[in-house]
This record gives sequence, C-alpha cells and structure tokens, in this order.
Amino acid sequence: MKLDFTYYNPTKIYFGKNSLDNLAGELANYGENILLVYGKSSIKKNGLYDKIMAILSDCDKNVVELSGIKSNPSYTQIMEGTRLVRENNVDLILAVGGGSVIDCSKGISVSAYCEGDPWERYWTNFEPVDNKIVPVASILTMAGTASEMNGGSVITNEEKKIKNGRVYGPEVYPKFSILNPEYTFTVPKYQMVSGVFDVMSHLMEQYFSGDDDNTTDYLIEGVLDSLINATRAALKNPEDYEARSNIMWCATLGLNTITGLSKTQDWEVHMIEHQIGAYTDCAHGVGLAIVSIPYYKYIYKYGLNKFVRFAKKVWGVDTDSMTKEEAALAGIDKLADFIKEMGIPTTLREIGATEDMLPLIAESTIPGGGYKQIGSAEILEILRQCY
Ligand code: NZQ
Ligand code: ZN
Repeated sequence: MKLDFTYYNPTKIYFGKNSLDNLAGELANYGENILLVYGKSSIKKNGLYDKIMAILSDCDKNVVELSGIKSNPSYTQIMEGTRLVRENNVDLILAVGGGSVIDCSKGISVSAYCEGDPWERYWTNFEPVDNKIVPVASILTMAGTASEMNGGSVITNEEKKIKNGRVYGPEVYPKFSILNPEYTFTVPKYQMVSGVFDVMSHLMEQYFSGDDDNTTDYLIEGVLDSLINATRAALKNPEDYEARSNIMWCATLGLNTITGLSKTQDWEVHMIEHQIGAYTDCAHGVGLAIVSIPYYKYIYKYGLNKFVRFAKKVWGVDTDSMTKEEAALAGIDKLADFIKEMGIPTTLREIGATEDMLPLIAESTIPGGGYKQIGSAEILEILRQCY
C-alpha cells in the first residue's frame, strides 16, 4: 500500500431481504417533500412502486415523480428534475432503479441550485460544487455500477453526443442505499450479464495498473472469483438468492472505491465505451465487454507480469509450461470465453454501430490508459478490431 490514501465512504447500506423495512426510519430524517425518480416500467411491473408509495404515504410525505429515466440518462432529464426540485422545494431525492436512475438523481442533486450551466461547470470543466446539494438516497434494483455507494454520475448530453462521467465528493454519495437482492430477480438476462461485466470491468480497470504487492489486488482477485461463481449459478437459476446476493455485493465493492485504494488505475476501456454509448445507446456493460478483449490484447505486453498473474489467480490457468506471453494471452482468452458463456455480443455491429461512427468515437474519446497511454489513432485501431 505504497501510495497514501484517505478512505471515507458515508453511504449507509441496508442489505438483504428485509432491508426495505428501514426506509420509514430513514425518511424521518428528512423533510416532507420527496422527488421519486425511477425508470421506464420495471418497478411498476414487479410491485416495488406500490410498496414504496405505501411507505411514503404512511410517513406523510408529499411525493413528486420523475419517471422514464432512460438507460444512459440524458442531460435533458436532469434539467427536468432540477425544475421539479425547485418548484416543489424537494428535501430528498429517492432514486429507485439501477445506475442510470441513481446517476440521474445525483445529477439533479448538484444541478438544481447551480448558477450557470451545470453541464459546462460540472461535467465538462469538473468544477467543485459550490451550491446547495439536495440529498439523494437509493433503492437499488439492478446490480452493476455501484452508483449506490459512490459519487459517480455518468450523463449523456444527446445534443453534443458526449457521455461524460463525473465523480463527486462524499457529500453527493447516497445518504443511504437499500439493497435487496430479490429485487434483481426480474432483471432480464441481457441486463444481468451487462451488469456483471460492468462489475468485472471496474475491477479490471483498477487491477491492470501498477505492479506493487498491494492488498487491493488480492481483494480484487477474490471479488472476481466470487462474481464468476455467482454469475454461473445465477445463469442456471435467476432466483438463486445466494448467487444474486453475491453479485449485488460484488458490484457494490467493485466501485465503492475500496478496490481502488493505493493504486494507479486504467479506465480507458470505460472512456472508449462512454463514446460508443453516446453514438449507439448500448447497454454499458455490453459495450465494455466488446472493447475489453481487443484492448487487453493491445496493452498486455506493457503489463506482462500482471496479466500472467490474472491468468493464474483469476482463471486458474496452469502457466508452468508456458512463456509469460502465452500465459498472459491464455488469461485474456479465458475472459473472452466467459463473455461468450454469458451470451454477451462481441462486436460493435451487433449493437448498432456503423463503420462511419468509428472515427467519430475515436476522436471524441478521452485518451489515457494504465500500462500504456493510448491516443485516438490507437483507439480507432481497437474499434476496428471489434467492429
Ligand atoms: O427503466 P426500467 O423499466 O426500470 O428498466 C431498467 C433498464 O431498462 C432495467 N431494470 C433495472 N432494474 C430492473 C430492471 N428490469 C427488471 N427488473 C429490475 N429489477 O434494466 C435496464 C438498465 O438499467 P440501468 O440503470 O440503465 O443499468 P445500469 O445499472 O447498468 O446503469 C447504467 C448507467 O450507469 C453508468 C453507465 O454508464 C450507464 O449510463 N455508470 C455509472 C457509474 C457510477 N455511477 O459510478 C459507473 C459505471 O461505470 C457506469 O459508467
Ligand atoms: Zn462501468
């Protein structure tokens, strides 16, 4: 743990089958005006909406609703939310859904009382937030992003065709998050595996950088091991509580900052995916899976030892009779096999990308990297390989 760090995570987590029982007690800490933010239809179909509305009514709350938050939430929806917050003097934003709903709620939280253009100030110039922040809390229905326990807010500006992530400080983290794995039973398989790959990608973005003997890397290997086992079980039986609960907690651990402590990090797969998302509106984890294999095949030579370790520790590859190069590639092949096992698409064509988009995506991607810094020409090459 050679790099200094400060660790502080203020989100209170209620986890398990009875976790919703804690909502009423928490609501007592806030004023009466609640903005309930949710997605298109899932919480109405599975009955969660009715349960939450009953609790809000018992607690004498005035509820204003912002529904229809899309996957890859848009800046336009944030602006709609800010109007509702100001008009109704909202005391708490309650996000019910996956990462998109929670990210959108955090965006509303920092933007409602912002002087000037929040997109320019907070998602482009990354200015510190200097205005009133409306508290956010979440009830999670889909495992993946860890937005339930971090300060991330990834927003798509559809007009500008930019999907930008911003990581806010602890004052923007959800005050509390309710995680009941049973709520994820109804997540369709495509979304479930997209969420699983998002978790894997968060862990790998933090793992594939630096070569020190760091406790964080051992932790990442353990979380990946649990996630892979749990995913195989959940694919067989989507209502396997133990599997779903492990996936849910792996997801939270994957990006609540604990698996990044004292580490340099990569995040270039995410940078590329964000622009793929801005052009195709794909499911986030699916875009990540498509980019990961050509990306890692491009950079593994610059972090050879770590890729050998990945093959051995995460995938159990017997590397004794292999060269380092063969061992590293064997680990990447295992990752590719797992993507296929989950049934995730492996090409950009399958998610609606067209060839003319590739240079536009490459040019608009923020360059960077872990073991190797790459720029737009290399990004374009990677995109061509997964087209
Ligand atoms: O809209 P509804 O009808 O609710 O359907 C949603 C949506 O279509 C559905 N769903 C969610 N819970 C369900 C369910 N369907 C049935 N039963 C349930 N219980 O799932 C679909 C996807 O939901 P979404 O919230 O979009 O997925 P996810 O959690 O993967 O969030 C993706 C967004 O988060 C951003 C991504 O870029 C993307 O915009 N990220 C946020 C991060 C953060 N805050 O730290 C980090 C990530 O790297 C990521 O960038
Ligand atoms: Zn992600």
